[in-house]
Amino acid sequence: MTSTTESSVPAGTTSEPVLEVRDLVKHYPLTQGILFKRHVGAVKAVDGVSFDLARGETLGIVGESGCGKSTVAKMLVHLEEPTGGRIAFKGQDITGLSGRGMKSVRRNIQMVFQDPYTSLNPRMTVGDIIGEPFEIHPEVAPKGDRRRKVQDLLDVVGLNPEYINRYPHQFSGGQRQRIGIARGLALQPEVIVADEPVSALDVSVQAQVVNLMERLQSEFELSYVFIAHDLSIVRHISNRVAVMYLGKVVEIGTDTEIYEHPTHPYTQALLSAVPLPDPTDREHRERILLAGDVPSPANPPSGCHFRTRCWKAQEVCARVEPPLAVPEWFRDGGGPTAHPSACHFADESTAPPTGEPGKRPGAPDGGPGSGPGASGRPPEEA
Ligand SMILES: Nc1ncnc2c1ncn2[C@@H]1O[C@H](COP(=O)(O)OP(=O)(O)O)[C@@H](O)[C@H]1O
Ligand code: SF4
Ligand SMILES: [Mg+2]
Repeated sequence: MTSTTESSVPAGTTSEPVLEVRDLVKHYPLTQGILFKRHVGAVKAVDGVSFDLARGETLGIVGESGCGKSTVAKMLVHLEEPTGGRIAFKGQDITGLSGRGMKSVRRNIQMVFQDPYTSLNPRMTVGDIIGEPFEIHPEVAPKGDRRRKVQDLLDVVGLNPEYINRYPHQFSGGQRQRIGIARGLALQPEVIVADEPVSALDVSVQAQVVNLMERLQSEFELSYVFIAHDLSIVRHISNRVAVMYLGKVVEIGTDTEIYEHPTHPYTQALLSAVPLPDPTDREHRERILLAGDVPSPANPPSGCHFRTRCWKAQEVCARVEPPLAVPEWFRDGGGPTAHPSACHFADESTAPPTGEPGKRPGAPDGGPGSGPGASGRPPEEA
């Protein structure tokens, strides 16, 4: 079976991934009653997410609000405990780590938060905000050295080192996000998990912050998980993109595979909403409007989670959950753009399917590659 494990490692990458995420799950229990709390279900915020992050790579994670992006981010930086699955940092399983072991790994995976207006403590000076991580990790910057280190960090993110005693409200949104990035860099991490770092900023400022992050990436050999709800934002910075829907990755691939050869209907719909600079391209593109809202992760649809909004949905989609894998016909015939897609009818065409699930569209029944999933074996019933 071709799984995300193999196919999510970018071509040309030989070294061990910095992060390996396997079957990551986060379920929040739903309880009822005030005195005697009874479990009545669970919010399946993240429901089996797998990907690799190569050294120096940027993986974009994209999906509508509520699909589990922030929960993945929080588990990566240990702000949330996974319900299941595994996270390895440079080959070491960090899921069950605690104490000193956790502390040293945590240093290497830092987070930049979504909203620069609320994520910085308004009562702390910029110097204290950026230098706060040194309190927990004094080995990175001994006390006498901290002021200089913070000023260096301000300089690195393009802010005047003399601003060290100012407060967050004295800065613009873009400048505040630079402060958040400087804080994320303080402990010299190898991985930065940026949760919608530019979503709250004006469009004109977004590009400046993305450019800064790109510059820092090459300067400090950083690996990024870069989260956004919009495919257009991550295009510029990502080497690969994972598209999430209701707690699962539904398609993952290189930027060319995702932006030019999307095969999952959800990705196709998201892309149809991305503004195109060229007016001729705009005229020729069909806009796909998704019906309805994202269903509740406490009660996701059976089979394919996307089926209630999918214009390609067939009877099988309600019964059988499509695995995230390269469809066999696509792997054999799709050439270099074959990549994993969790759809029984994964196909670059946006037209409703004509053939059997898992088959090359239009291929006669029983031909090579028939049957859903990458292995050619029928997937298990959901
Ligand atoms: N602490 C929590 N308790 C219960 N449900 C939560 C909690 N945090 C997040 N959720 C739910 O999990 C789902 C995914 O949330 P989140 O990861 O924040 O999505 P995103 O970042 O993609 O918008 C949402 O339905 C959200 O309401
Ligand atoms: S498996 Fe079915 S419902 Fe799900 S995305 Fe594919 S066609 Fe749509
Ligand atoms: Mg979020």
